[in-house]
Amino acid sequence: MRVPSLRILVYTGKGGVGKTSVSVATALKCAERGLRTIVISTDSAHSLSDSVDMEVGPSIRRIAENVDGLEIDILKELEENWNEIRKYIFTFFTSQGMDEISAKEMAIFPGMEFIASLFYLERFYVNDEYDVVVVDTAPTADTLRLLSFPDVADWYFQHFYGVMKNFVRVARMTVGRVISFPIPSDEAMHEFEKFNLRIKNVRELLTNPEITSVRLVTNPEKMVISETMRAYTYLSLYNLNVEALIVNRVYDANADSASPLKLREQKQHLEMITDVFSPLKILYAHQFTLEVVGRESIMKLADELFSDSDPSALFSRENPMKIISKGGSTIIRLKVPFTGTAGLELYNTRDAIIVSIGQYRRTIALPLGLYGREVASAEVADGVLSIKFREEANAGRKGKRIHRRKDKGDS
Ligand SMILES: Nc1ncnc2c1ncn2[C@@H]1O[C@H](COP(=O)(O)OP(=O)(O)OP(=O)(O)O)[C@@H](O)[C@H]1O
Ligand SMILES: [Mg+2]
Repeated sequence: MRVPSLRILVYTGKGGVGKTSVSVATALKCAERGLRTIVISTDSAHSLSDSVDMEVGPSIRRIAENVDGLEIDILKELEENWNEIRKYIFTFFTSQGMDEISAKEMAIFPGMEFIASLFYLERFYVNDEYDVVVVDTAPTADTLRLLSFPDVADWYFQHFYGVMKNFVRVARMTVGRVISFPIPSDEAMHEFEKFNLRIKNVRELLTNPEITSVRLVTNPEKMVISETMRAYTYLSLYNLNVEALIVNRVYDANADSASPLKLREQKQHLEMITDVFSPLKILYAHQFTLEVVGRESIMKLADELFSDSDPSALFSRENPMKIISKGGSTIIRLKVPFTGTAGLELYNTRDAIIVSIGQYRRTIALPLGLYGREVASAEVADGVLSIKFREEANAGRKGKRIHRRKDKGDS
């Protein structure tokens, strides 16, 4: 890939914290600085139009000087991009006796709704259409699925696609005599291959800390902070560079609407935020009296957040995962903020390490040099998981559980 110039800024957080408002504020401010900007919404309950107070919609359209907007319509994108694959999956299931309606449902596989958004990112990068892409997302859980999709899909394709290719080769040789279901057409295979490659590209874009930054949006409230902490852990697990935290809706000490009790509570929460998230870059915006809607009030929010600085500047370029060689041994280091050894589960196969935290799991493909190596030790210290490998490979070794979560009733 060429030297990166695109910046992808992904805002994520709990429902209602201000993701859309902050995304639009960032986009307008970038555009004001002359950067070619687009703000895209991946939330199917789009609110970009409400925020900018004009119709945005499912085709790219200009919303102000230097800035475009797009509310991604999943069904429209699927219709346009995935016909061949869907046709094949549909034919496959109907040939197996499934009714047409169920077969149509099966042709939308889990995670497919994310592909459209992810492929837009790839398209913007390849075509050099923008300097900054601001991504306004759905509340946390969906966004985690969106951002982890390339990781999961890549693993799936490596295994599934190899099998399918062999199957097609054999099926072509036996031409329908033994095989009772349809062979995917050349077009479908070509689509699968294209898909595979694009997913790999998207994954590279998302995990390149110079290009993609994830910014957490939070409010100074206990439950929101807890969810933000969890999101930080999971995003790091997927090797995404979380490089800033936006604390939105901070009541001002002289605001009429905030009671002394509310202000005292908020003070504690703000202290907690600086304590737990430090050294992450933190930006603040106060609670406005009225909703933040329309250019004027959004620009006020943007000024509070960024003042005269560039909102697309990188606050940190650190990748959560690093592979280090030290004195002959190799160590994988993975940032897992707020997690202790007891909170995770590790499994080691010949070519991968599988790490599970909460309901999230990541398969870390090992570099060739680490194939077949056994894990000598794995521990978490200061929010960083270190997995140390033995120096010698053990060729015939099977998968092995390295560490089991302590909350499972066994130790
Ligand atoms: N600092 C603020 N002061 C006052 N109102 C705000 C502030 N930030 C956001 N709002 C208002 O709060 C509401 C929710 O904000 P917004 O839509 O940006 O949140 P969101 O995180 O995108 O929500 P959702 O999860 O539903 O997508 C909107 O009406 C918005 O105008
Ligand atoms: Mg929103």
